Amino acid sequence: MKKTSIAVLISGSGTNLQSIIDKMESGHLPVVVRCVISDRESALGLERARKHGISAYFVDPKPCGSRDAHEVAILEILDKHDVELVVLAGYMRLLTGRMIGRYRNRIINIHPALLPSFPGTDGYGDAWRYGVKVSGCTVHFVDEGCDTGPIILQRVNPIEPDDTFESFRERGLKIEHGVLPEAIRLYCEGRLRIEGRKVQILPKE
Ligand code: GRF
Repeated sequence: MKKTSIAVLISGSGTNLQSIIDKMESGHLPVVVRCVISDRESALGLERARKHGISAYFVDPKPCGSRDAHEVAILEILDKHDVELVVLAGYMRLLTGRMIGRYRNRIINIHPALLPSFPGTDGYGDAWRYGVKVSGCTVHFVDEGCDTGPIILQRVNPIEPDDTFESFRERGLKIEHGVLPEAIRLYCEGRLRIEGRKVQILPKE
């Protein structure tokens, strides 16, 4: 199968990025990570990428002056690497119409809660504080809203009576590390069909 060129956008530790790299290197994911882009210079994920010989870029939002100009800078990098699919893996900025328009239905995001519950920047914290008995994570296509795009996959993470916030989050992250590559694989296999809000998963050929 032809490998899909992907870019991974991050803001932090990059454990989801690592799971993608590991599955790519072990031959379990038909992708090539062409580049990793972060809006934070200190993001550990940049180091992870470099360790694996992947081009890693810090694109500083400050000198860009606007969200739009920041995205122009990111789009230049994506063009340079001929990226087909953009994966947001802990990227903490909202995308503008410019980027979404250019990569319509080719940007996916992992969110650490069962959308539409607890959108925003602190899915784990919000779910934990609310006291839900079941949470989980969601991989979805990105549209103009905040965590509102069509849902590709969801996995549940039940909260046990003896959980602490840390144990809940740690288990959730492990689930994320499985489900994000799974969604990427479905994309690469051409098995995702968007019909309005619904994403149909086509059977394997
Ligand atoms: C993950 O929980 C992801 O769902 C959220 O940010 C976190 C990123 O973790 N959007 P990491 O950088 O992949 O370790």
